[in-house]
Amino acid sequence: MMITLLVLTTLASLAVTSPVLPTQTWPPAFCNKLECPKYTTVKTTKDYEERQYDPAKWTSTTISGMSYDEASRTGFERLFNYISGSNKGQVKIPMTAPVLVKVEPGQGPFCKTNFTVSFFVPFADQTSPPEPSDPNVFTNPLTGMTAYVRYFKGFASDTDWTSNAEALSKSLDNATVSYNKDFYYTAGYNSPFQPTNRHNEVWYLKSD
Ligand SMILES: *[C@@H]1O[C@H](CO)[C@@H](O)[C@H](O)[C@H]1NC(C)=O
Ligand SMILES: *[C@@H]1O[C@H](CO)[C@@H](O)[C@H](O)[C@H]1NC(C)=O
Repeated sequence: MMITLLVLTTLASLAVTSPVLPTQTWPPAFCNKLECPKYTTVKTTKDYEERQYDPAKWTSTTISGMSYDEASRTGFERLFNYISGSNKGQVKIPMTAPVLVKVEPGQGPFCKTNFTVSFFVPFADQTSPPEPSDPNVFTNPLTGMTAYVRYFKGFASDTDWTSNAEALSKSLDNATVSYNKDFYYTAGYNSPFQPTNRHNEVWYLKSD
């Protein structure tokens, strides 16, 4: 009884004194009115943002190679064909954001890197995404994940991605957070035809 009263009093005083939270806008402006995966911001520092992503399905394809630009172009084409009707049912699927590329470097200087390019599955298709016709394309359920995110503007070149991933890695090391160093993600939110307001991100995932 005492505890209930205490809780009620506390709640009542909170209700009176808490400031009104700003209304969350969704999707974020950098998603450009496209559907993009849901996340909540856990923490923001001057160097990075920590985001908790909901589990969600993506459509993916993996390319093993040496060049980010070449692999991401090939991957994008395969996925673009998939959303343009190269799937069971030949349905058109709306474009989403971001174009996510998982970069898994091989061990050693001459080893190939695995680039997994992914499109987010629209919310309406999350339960059962149309089956890809191309055997290189697959539905990829990603578990909920905590991402450390660094963003930058402009047209991202191959070296912009790597230098930003390095900078993020340094910030995380300095902050002594534990993250998976075996791979990182690049997230591009804009079509090549958008000249301004370009938003790019690199992500490392939190490890347990
Ligand atoms: C790349 O993918 C291949 C095939 O799945 C796998 O054998 C290899 O270990 C992967 N390499 C890296 C660096 O993840
Ligand atoms: C390292 O972290 C400290 C706080 O823990 C911060 O004050 C400092 O600016 C950081 N240095 C770099 C190079 O990020």
